[in-house]
Amino acid sequence: MILLLGASGHMGQAFATELRRRRYGFIPLTRKAIDYTSFELLFDYVRKLKPEFIINAAGYPGWPNVDACETAREETLFANTLLPQTVSRACSMTSTPWGHISSGCIYHGAKFIDDKGTRIVAGAELRQRFAESPEKIFGYTEWDEPNFSFRNAPCNFYSGTKTLAEEAVRGVGDVYLWRPGMPFNERSEPRNFLWRIQNYQKVFDGVNSLSHLDDFVRACLDLWERQAPFGVYNMSNPGAVLTRQVIEMIQRILKPDRRFEFWKDEEEFYRQGARALRSNCVLDVSKLLVAGVKMRPVEEALEDSLRNWNVATVRVNGGAARNVSVLSR
Ligand SMILES: NC(=O)c1ccc[n+]([C@@H]2O[C@H](COP(=O)([O-])OP(=O)(O)OC[C@H]3O[C@@H](n4cnc5c(N)ncnc54)[C@H](OP(=O)(O)O)[C@@H]3O)[C@@H](O)[C@H]2O)c1
Repeated sequence: MILLLGASGHMGQAFATELRRRRYGFIPLTRKAIDYTSFELLFDYVRKLKPEFIINAAGYPGWPNVDACETAREETLFANTLLPQTVSRACSMTSTPWGHISSGCIYHGAKFIDDKGTRIVAGAELRQRFAESPEKIFGYTEWDEPNFSFRNAPCNFYSGTKTLAEEAVRGVGDVYLWRPGMPFNERSEPRNFLWRIQNYQKVFDGVNSLSHLDDFVRACLDLWERQAPFGVYNMSNPGAVLTRQVIEMIQRILKPDRRFEFWKDEEEFYRQGARALRSNCVLDVSKLLVAGVKMRPVEEALEDSLRNWNVATVRVNGGAARNVSVLSR
């Protein structure tokens, strides 16, 4: 029996779907059913249920985007740092292995390696270097200290709380810390990176590692099924893309006549379009691959998602289903 926390959320629903597909017995727990954010309630529940594995898909990524975490600080800190600590304590006291959804957003930029050595590049320089010579751009590994955190400011509040959670639970008991890139897939829904860039008034061009949501979930469960060593795993589809390249794919595959407008530069974007700093980073997924878990290259997963794009009803923040056309206005 697997216990799934945060089952009503975007990530939680994807885990529930995959667990059903694999015919695992699992309990999709929501706070409404049992307030699992209370240590006493969670500990008692886990002690009695004795699950073989717990998945923590609960957290607060900000709604409609990460800017919301700058103001909803209490909720952000509670859901992203204190809750993982509570789960960690309950799991270590009951010797229950578990997995926690961390984030790749605890890094900023990427490594640029040439004959002069290695240095970190970000922003306009990263965009230019990546466009000119992508083979010289490398991602952060699990051994690199997060550089978009409260300790290594500046960062945004969301990333700060996600990094603190990693610090708090890493190495305590048997835990996987799964770090996705920005999630996308073929479903037309507002948490999907591909939906977002089609619905922004202006697009910010950055270099990122991305995670096909269902590939990510499968890879998380594969790690556990294969009994890979516990610890931190970067879990994006191998490779990285410029948002501009994704826009070109959208125009080629989905919307040939659609014109997109871009923010001129960081300065304009942060003055008019965003409140919180964005991480825009590249992850190295060698550790995942060495563990024997495969994810498709990011270009392939993007191409596949766009070719299978569907316009369906969507659930907004666990709420009632609404039509996409209403949301995109
Ligand atoms: N979406 C992304 O872009 C992204 C990317 C990387 C990582 N992540 C991480 O994945 C996890 C889940 O994100 P998501 O996109 O699935 O979020 P979501 O759709 O907002 O769902 C998160 C769920 O967490 C539960 N929860 C527990 N305490 C909460 C609190 N104080 N405030 C709000 N929700 C709380 C809620 O479920 P119940 O009320 O039913 O228990 C909620 O439905 C988070 O840790 C997030 O940092 C998300």
